[in-house]
Amino acid sequence: MLSKDFIMIPTPALIIDLPTAQRNIDKLARYAAKHKIGIRPHTKTHKLIEMSRRQLAAGAVGLTVAKVGELEVMSGVGDDLLLAYPALDPARTHRIAEISKRKMVRVAVDSKAAVDALSSAVVGAESAVGILVDLDVGYHRTGLQTPELALELAQYVDRAPGVRLDGLFTYPGHVTLAADQQNEVLHGINERIAQTLSLWKRHGLHAGIVSGGSTPTAFQSHLIPTVTEIRPGTYVYYDRNCIVGGWCEVEDCAAHIVCTVVSNAVPGKCVIDAGSKTLTSDRLYNDPTGAQGFGYVVEYPQAKIVRLSEEHGEIDLSQCDDVPQLGDRVHVIPNHVCPCVNLQNSIWLRDESGEQVMPVDARGRLS
Ligand SMILES: Cc1ncc(COP(=O)(O)O)c(C=O)c1O
Repeated sequence: MLSKDFIMIPTPALIIDLPTAQRNIDKLARYAAKHKIGIRPHTKTHKLIEMSRRQLAAGAVGLTVAKVGELEVMSGVGDDLLLAYPALDPARTHRIAEISKRKMVRVAVDSKAAVDALSSAVVGAESAVGILVDLDVGYHRTGLQTPELALELAQYVDRAPGVRLDGLFTYPGHVTLAADQQNEVLHGINERIAQTLSLWKRHGLHAGIVSGGSTPTAFQSHLIPTVTEIRPGTYVYYDRNCIVGGWCEVEDCAAHIVCTVVSNAVPGKCVIDAGSKTLTSDRLYNDPTGAQGFGYVVEYPQAKIVRLSEEHGEIDLSQCDDVPQLGDRVHVIPNHVCPCVNLQNSIWLRDESGEQVMPVDARGRLS
């Protein structure tokens, strides 16, 4: 239900439906508790202290961040933090070492260079960090390519001063199949991890943490029993990628870009006040040409956002029975919510009492 003040919110505005976000948090928390899997949500999706607080209150074992700037922000709410990003330059490692004086910090790495850089920063700061060795399980973005190479890096970490070998890190970013078709690929990932862990064991090394997970695989995480904790981020809000992928329903989407129809002068279309600077130019997964458009218009499911310029979103209305009028507001579910959040200075949290604005705490913290 829209509050009476809704019309005064300047658009385009990112509005979060709090009961929906809370329901998403609680649902995953129940699943994880049932299967005894830890959740360490990736905060890059919401970049919001309030949302981290809710995830921790629901039982999250800690928080994940991508960037040191996010680590700095989220260290204000979490005590146990994972930097899921290779940090090997001094501009990163020295800030990590500072935070690790007061918080538990772990970093995922895939090179000796990163271990050396972190080791020297923490020794200088008289602190310590935990290391998770990044093993590529199929996404082919980062991560060591074989169990043997993962062992070699683990042994290197084990010998280096100031750093502690805490476990293994994986990311199944390539798994974008519908939930009921993931069994085979997840089984393969589990085998790969199991091989690596048994190799470590034979060499006297133990992985206390095996980190994995994503939103598409979140509710199938029990099919990778070697994983001790998962890092889904998008699940808190979901987005159009998740609807199309079959990982959520439209009703599970907690984040909407509220836009105003600012022109209908050109026949067959209207224009909203959200372009690429709001919705981003992200296409849907598996839609390289962008044929499926740039978002889902909740009030007009047949409408298609066909073209974006920076501040204009052009909507093709040719398939619609009913069309929006000039000045109307529409709710758009973006293709990919995470970069949209990062484009907003502030966000509106909506519940039964209305909308409340707050800053996006880690917005722009990209270094
Ligand atoms: C390393 C890593 N872990 C976890 C996640 C969270 O995955 P998802 O966006 O599917 O929730 C991401 C997303 O980009 C990631 O890069």
